[in-house]
Amino acid sequence: MLEGKFVVLGVTGSIAAYKSAELVRLLKKQGALVQVIMTESACEFIKPLTFQVLSQNQVITDMFREPSKWEVEHVALADRADLVLIAPATANIIAKIAAGIADDMLTTTILATRAKVVVVPAMNVHMYEHPITQRNIQRLKESGIEVMKPAEGFLACGYTGKGRFPEPADIVKFVDSIVGRAQDLKGKTVLITAGPTREPVDPVRFISNHSSGKMGYALARQAVLRGARVVLISGPTSIDPPAGLYKFIPVETALEMEKAVLENFTQAHVVIKAAAVADFRPKNYNPGKIKKQGGGMVIELVKNPDILQELGEKKQHQVLVGFAAETDEPEKNAKEKLERKNLDFIVLNDVTQEGAGFGSDTNIVKIIYRDGRTEILPKMLKRDVADAILDRVLPYLN
Ligand code: PMT
Repeated sequence: MLEGKFVVLGVTGSIAAYKSAELVRLLKKQGALVQVIMTESACEFIKPLTFQVLSQNQVITDMFREPSKWEVEHVALADRADLVLIAPATANIIAKIAAGIADDMLTTTILATRAKVVVVPAMNVHMYEHPITQRNIQRLKESGIEVMKPAEGFLACGYTGKGRFPEPADIVKFVDSIVGRAQDLKGKTVLITAGPTREPVDPVRFISNHSSGKMGYALARQAVLRGARVVLISGPTSIDPPAGLYKFIPVETALEMEKAVLENFTQAHVVIKAAAVADFRPKNYNPGKIKKQGGGMVIELVKNPDILQELGEKKQHQVLVGFAAETDEPEKNAKEKLERKNLDFIVLNDVTQEGAGFGSDTNIVKIIYRDGRTEILPKMLKRDVADAILDRVLPYLN
């Protein structure tokens, strides 16, 4: 996927800077054209000559040196780049990007580019976990910059924890999935629901389920990478929404999710409902914390609206995809939902299987179509399941 792509690699002043030499070698091996920009402090850790030899290209270290061509060099590089990758990225460069500072060749290139920017943090665990660094990382994500999670383990500073520079091969895989992605959903609006809903009993208790949001967020991220305008409507989760969303609408209850989904339904070309919506909510909300009295307690429940079924009834041009989380007679139940909710296809996960369904990073799914066809996909990362689902949406759009 990186064949022929022009990658600007920013190397900053971290002890992990030497590992970027291997990164350059791997990027070149994939067929990328690599232009290295080193910050002044990076040059204290490793000599530009190493990168020059490996990238077979001049290394840029100083914004104010005589430009070799007439063009303003940082703008020319920024325009030409298919990807700007900052690896390793120190807390300092992350803070500068977050603040919009452009005082050297690397930071000016980052501000001037329209290409995808990927940041790979590497630093001491306490610096990484510091609320200021975390806030800066969050700002980068909100600006559409992809931030790769650092690895965990023994750090050069002697501590153990998060902040390790990931293996260069893993960085290449990560950028490959970003740069190489076809823009096959460009111009389409994709509405995705994710996570659980919470149905409050009293101010301290609620009824919910084990959905982590990982499946829905993976769908949202891959759809963004494929060029879609993504509206993500999510119940409470502990994961960060992906960068580049058109809209992120956090909700708590099924009724709130229903309202948000209906408000955004007309403009959507595709709706994928990965959320695990609570089917019931307490009939009465107790405004004060319910006290323990005597033996047991009975909470009367009422049915929540079936949001997907409502969409199935209103459906016009939209491609409608549902999920089914089943334990008993999975295929029979999923087929019944496919029909009743008027879906184009349904993604069935048998949540009793190891590595499938709630909370895991992987999923094992079966796709069932209206004409009775079924497709069984092997156990895959939720990211890859998301791409497989989006691949199957495409024919309905054309
Ligand atoms: O979030 P993760 O931890 O990554 O886990 C992923 C997942 C297991 C939650 C996900 O893959 C999944 O299966 N989501 C649907 C779970 C579910 O609620 O299934 P269901 O069979 O109850 O509902 C069928 C479909 O109708 C779903 O698309 C659901 O979003 C929708 N629905 C259900 C009830 C309701 N009141 N309104 C709805 O829209």
